[in-house]
Amino acid sequence: MPGHFITVEGPDGSGKSTQARLLAEHLGAIYTREPGGTKLGEKLRNMVLDPNSEALSDHAEALMIAAARAQHVEEVVIPAIEQDKNVVSDRFIESSVAYQGYGRGLGPEKILEISLFATQNLQADLIVLIDIDAPLAANRRGKNLDRIEKAGDDFHSRVMDAYRMMASDDPGRWVVIDGSGTVNEVSRKVIAGVESRLGKHARD
Ligand code: TYD
Repeated sequence: MPGHFITVEGPDGSGKSTQARLLAEHLGAIYTREPGGTKLGEKLRNMVLDPNSEALSDHAEALMIAAARAQHVEEVVIPAIEQDKNVVSDRFIESSVAYQGYGRGLGPEKILEISLFATQNLQADLIVLIDIDAPLAANRRGKNLDRIEKAGDDFHSRVMDAYRMMASDDPGRWVVIDGSGTVNEVSRKVIAGVESRLGKHARD
């Protein structure tokens, strides 16, 4: 099943990065992440997530993430898909819609527009949502928090609500997985969910 672009989404503390890696490994896909995935993108990521970047405005944050995404798509994602490789990205456009659009309150339509400009209209074929209740996610985040993780409980609740809304509005493109189990339990569900959507039966 070559050339699929799958993204993994979820709130901070959902275990999404681990799940994205395990999924990529299982599919033999390229694993990449946002913000980041390129040299420029990783620099922008450090600036955006640095707890000392207190003065960063919400608009600047949105545009820096969009710039990182533009570079990532052009340098990594498009070339891989053109070579019929599967790509798993740990976060993509829907992170911006959830975090900047709803979390920061910049508006989902505007953020989607900026994001599609950045990606040259590329969108994920399939989006895996690691769904987890806010208190469990907060617990898993621990104490060493980056700038966005520090944004507060209301912010993170808006993010989770936004993900659930996007998934229920577009069920054909989203696979929602309960993220409350162990790493292995969740991983099995992610793999089964993705393979059934991509037309392949999950291996045990
Ligand atoms: P994350 O992917 O959760 O990495 P880690 O597991 O190392 O914490 O962290 C990235 C942070 O960036 C996360 O708080 C969400 C945020 N983010 C946005 O706010 N908007 C975006 O578009 C993206 C891609 C990430």
